[in-house]
Amino acid sequence: MTIDKPFINSYILCSSSFPSIACLIWFSMGTLNSYHRTKRIWNHGTPCTNTHQIGALLLIVATLFINRLWDHLPSALHNNTQCSIFNHDRSPRKLAHSNGGYPSWPERGYGSHLSLKIYVYDENEIDGLKPLMYGKEGVVDVDICYQGQWGTQVKIHRLLLNSRFRTRKKEEADFFFVPAYVKCVHMMEALTEEEINQTYVEVLSQMPYFRRSGGRDHIFVFPSGNGAHFFTSWKTFLNRSIFLTPEGDRTDNKNSSSFHTWKDIIIPGNVHDEMTKNGAALVEPLPLSKRNYLANYLGRAQGLKGRLQLLELARQYPDKLEAPDLKHDPPDKLFKLEYFEHLRNAKFCLIPRGLSSWTLRFYESFFVECVPVIISDQIELPFQNVIDYTQITIKWPATRIGPQLLEYLESIPDEVIMGMIARGRQVKCLWTYAPESEPCSAMHGILWELQRKVRVFHQSAETFWLHNGTIVNRDLVEFHNWKPPMPLP
Ligand SMILES: *[C@@H]1O[C@H](CO)[C@@H](O)[C@H](O)[C@H]1NC(C)=O
Ligand SMILES: *[C@@H]1O[C@H](CO)[C@@H](O)[C@H](O)[C@H]1NC(C)=O
Ligand SMILES: *[C@@H]1O[C@H](CO)[C@@H](O)[C@H](O)[C@H]1NC(C)=O
Ligand SMILES: *[C@@H]1O[C@H](CO)[C@@H](O)[C@H](O)[C@H]1NC(C)=O
Ligand SMILES: *[C@@H]1O[C@H](CO)[C@@H](O)[C@H](O)[C@H]1NC(C)=O
Repeated sequence: MTIDKPFINSYILCSSSFPSIACLIWFSMGTLNSYHRTKRIWNHGTPCTNTHQIGALLLIVATLFINRLWDHLPSALHNNTQCSIFNHDRSPRKLAHSNGGYPSWPERGYGSHLSLKIYVYDENEIDGLKPLMYGKEGVVDVDICYQGQWGTQVKIHRLLLNSRFRTRKKEEADFFFVPAYVKCVHMMEALTEEEINQTYVEVLSQMPYFRRSGGRDHIFVFPSGNGAHFFTSWKTFLNRSIFLTPEGDRTDNKNSSSFHTWKDIIIPGNVHDEMTKNGAALVEPLPLSKRNYLANYLGRAQGLKGRLQLLELARQYPDKLEAPDLKHDPPDKLFKLEYFEHLRNAKFCLIPRGLSSWTLRFYESFFVECVPVIISDQIELPFQNVIDYTQITIKWPATRIGPQLLEYLESIPDEVIMGMIARGRQVKCLWTYAPESEPCSAMHGILWELQRKVRVFHQSAETFWLHNGTIVNRDLVEFHNWKPPMPLP
């Protein structure tokens, strides 16, 4: 009998603060499959002995029962249900060595509850941050930047300012958040692309902590399909930092993607607040039997091949597929209310790629409860550590748009569709940017992903250290004496 590490790890992650609904889905549907898939890889070189493994299994069985009662238990118990293969040491400043003599993972970062410290740079502390937030003349209206599918650039910043994980002490921070609303500022023509690039470089040169880690512990939000390309020279200056971005691919016109699976975090797009609020949402889902179409696609074609193929398919099968030729302006434009009323009128919402691989419609479809059919081969989806997307969505090859797709969708029984919808309903809270007081939100997902990136040690090519733990630069100047402007990159 063997237990692989991700199994235990993910289960524990699941069993506590991470929204238990997402866990239930993940656990009941995906766990055993992924357990079998990953077993072979992870058994190799695992530091667990059989005793550990048996102990771990017993623990899992025990926590299965405890999980249901979790919220009602005193916090003392929360600290005692950790898996024995993990180091219980919670201090980020200590070495990650356990009593057993072999290295083991720190409980922090893989642990049973969120525990991390994020420093948020103040707009007055670093010259250049204000222009990146409000434009050169400081005229950009942040409330506008807060709206729309790119609102995450403001929302995440505001949520972190009020977060219980925020620290005001740089010395103790695990992460440094760099606020900037460049997508919005650029859209409002308050900074040119060139100015954005130069301002970012100016900002980075004032951050000794950025220098210390080569940017590895610094977080940037890039909320649009352009990803980090908004900072033209990101590859030179920012190629080790953590990007929060909905975009996993921009190979179409930028020739290279700025998303890296090992360091970056995919975040959900910003669905309209009126759809995500509980109770009085703008548009409520329809019962399956009341939906007029098998499938729909409700976006502008923008001359893109896949989208044009869907429009053509809708011309051939107008009673099955609703895909009107929408334009940027009326009369061939759907306004918000109309748009969601149409979106909810099909069992399946087709999600072809746009100029880039991510599209907001994917997230919106969960709030009208149609099953998303992803037709965007390069898409990257958020929170893959807890969501098994095969249980709530369909992904279809972009090279196979045609009658076969409709035939296939038609062959899926309503009970199966309802099952997917029901499971989707349970994870959609992870697409909502709500305050931390909510038990489940996009921020919870993001914080858990960040926690897995906590480091006790910081390095870069220009960082050195001595026998007594002192960090120095190439000239042997101690870290606390590093004075801006810092050399870059
Ligand atoms: C549980 O862990 C938290 C976080 O480390 C700590 O603040 C708290 O004191 C612990 N509670 C008990 C009863 O040990
Ligand atoms: C971005 O700014 C830096 C610093 O001014 C400069 O060295 C670099 O060439 C700029 N990149 C582009 C693409 O202009
Ligand atoms: C990443 O940045 C470093 C400097 O920080 C630079 O030396 C390296 O060439 C960059 N990598 C790429 C792929 O541009
Ligand atoms: C795009 O990438 C290809 C191959 O990686 C390279 O040969 C080409 O020069 C790049 N084009 C631009 C505009 O960067
Ligand atoms: C660490 O060692 C260096 C070199 O011997 C010394 O200059 C420095 O003061 C020491 N720092 C501490 C904190 O002991």
